Amino acid sequence: MARTVIILAAGEGKRMKSDLPKVLHPLLGRTLVGHVMAAARPLAARTVVVVGHRAELVTAHVGEVAPDASTVLQAEQRGTGHAVRTALDALDGVDGTVLVLNGDVPLLRTETLAAMVGAHEDAGAAATVLAAEVASPGGLGRILRDADGGLAGIVEARDATPEQLAIREINAGIYAFEAAALRDALGKLTAHNAQGEEYLTDVFGLLGQAGRRVSVHVAADADETLGCNDRAELAQLGALLRDRINAAHMRAGVTIVDPATTWIDADVTIERDAVVEPATYLKGATAIAAGAVVGPDVTLVDTTVGAGAEVVRAHAVLAEIGPQAKVGPYAYLRPGTTLGVKSKVGTFVEVKNSTLGEGAKVPHLSYVGDANVGEHTNIGAANVVANYNWQSKSRTIIGAYVNTGSDSVLVAPVRLGDGSTTAAGSIITEDVPPGALAIARERQVNKEGWIHRARPDSAAAAAAKAAAEADGGAAAA
Ligand code: UD1
Ligand code: CA
Repeated sequence: MARTVIILAAGEGKRMKSDLPKVLHPLLGRTLVGHVMAAARPLAARTVVVVGHRAELVTAHVGEVAPDASTVLQAEQRGTGHAVRTALDALDGVDGTVLVLNGDVPLLRTETLAAMVGAHEDAGAAATVLAAEVASPGGLGRILRDADGGLAGIVEARDATPEQLAIREINAGIYAFEAAALRDALGKLTAHNAQGEEYLTDVFGLLGQAGRRVSVHVAADADETLGCNDRAELAQLGALLRDRINAAHMRAGVTIVDPATTWIDADVTIERDAVVEPATYLKGATAIAAGAVVGPDVTLVDTTVGAGAEVVRAHAVLAEIGPQAKVGPYAYLRPGTTLGVKSKVGTFVEVKNSTLGEGAKVPHLSYVGDANVGEHTNIGAANVVANYNWQSKSRTIIGAYVNTGSDSVLVAPVRLGDGSTTAAGSIITEDVPPGALAIARERQVNKEGWIHRARPDSAAAAAAKAAAEADGGAAAA
């Protein structure tokens, strides 16, 4: 059946106290409305998002994450009923089932929506509302049932009697309608209520009075229907979503040592037998292959980790870590970093826009930027690839089986041939031929006895004298 999905996202969300529209607040790798669109997408022949407050921002976001969806402008926010009417007026030939969803219910799952739509269509209902039983219904709309347990209507908290306010069965803001019945009832809405708005919820009372079948579908898990009104609720929803995502990975064969401190975005993929150690944040399009160990204290953004790799106390953005590579502790991989099989980026090392070949190592205290490092090359401790001359950046090409001495500075652009070596402390400004040793530093000069002339009464002078005497004694013996 052709289904149209309408997502309501025109409101500001005042209680968020934010310059950003509420539906654009991020949660585990998607915005609130992004989660709702993802849940509805499998059921939708077409999706339209009603935008209003900061419409240009919301429209741009929808275009980015769901190019198949469209947006409709509700210039003035005159209520949820008015929002749906505005959407229907902008669309041609809507028939079949129309699904309407508030844009701020990020925990809603496709399965729950599908169950509600299935029940609605099987019953031949004109309108079905998703309800949930909650402990503190607060400002939510209450479900009114008749003597037979059927749906009598929905009343907003602000319009409710004290008896109605005691009802704990609430309207989740998620509905299925038969298109013609919806269009008909929307035409009859008034704004005679506490908020002076056209309530979508009044459609249920109107259809019921007209003798049409209206029904309630109770969500199996009330948490899925939770909306977000302020930042405290945003954090609560985040924790629930984190737990749900972690549980799914664990059931699929991933070890998560401490789920409470592990935050994995919705679109991250992790293969079986990977281990995620505590305090780890996996974001965006990150992908972890089988048997990799990630953490503790790791943040990976849009980064891939190959099978069997180990990443500990590291931060990586848009990087590719090859199979069995080792990263950290205390490493920073910046965009464009590609680490080959069994390569290593060690302690206090930063790598940017560079490739390391198979088995290449940068073990300690180095910066590698805009460089190709060949296979099995070892970069000595405290090397710097000086890639920037304050105007432009150039590449440095380091061959295979190269060994650079500690504290080498490679001033780009420069090439080090295969099997070449640099002496410790060298500042390499010219290409090094394959197999050559490059020494680019002053020769050492020892000025004998200097301490006795410069600081004759110092402890250092006394120590030097004692050492010379001991050495002389040893030589004499
Ligand atoms: C609505 C329901 C309430 C339900 C609750 C669930 C109505 C009248 N009430 O109340 O029964 O329990 O959701 O969260 O529908 N929006 C627009 N245009 C408008 C007004 C709102 O697009 O003119 C959008 C908002 O951006 C939001 C959604 O509709 O995404 C719900 O609006 P909101 O004002 O938050 O409705 P509630 O008062 O929470
Ligand atoms: Ca409202």
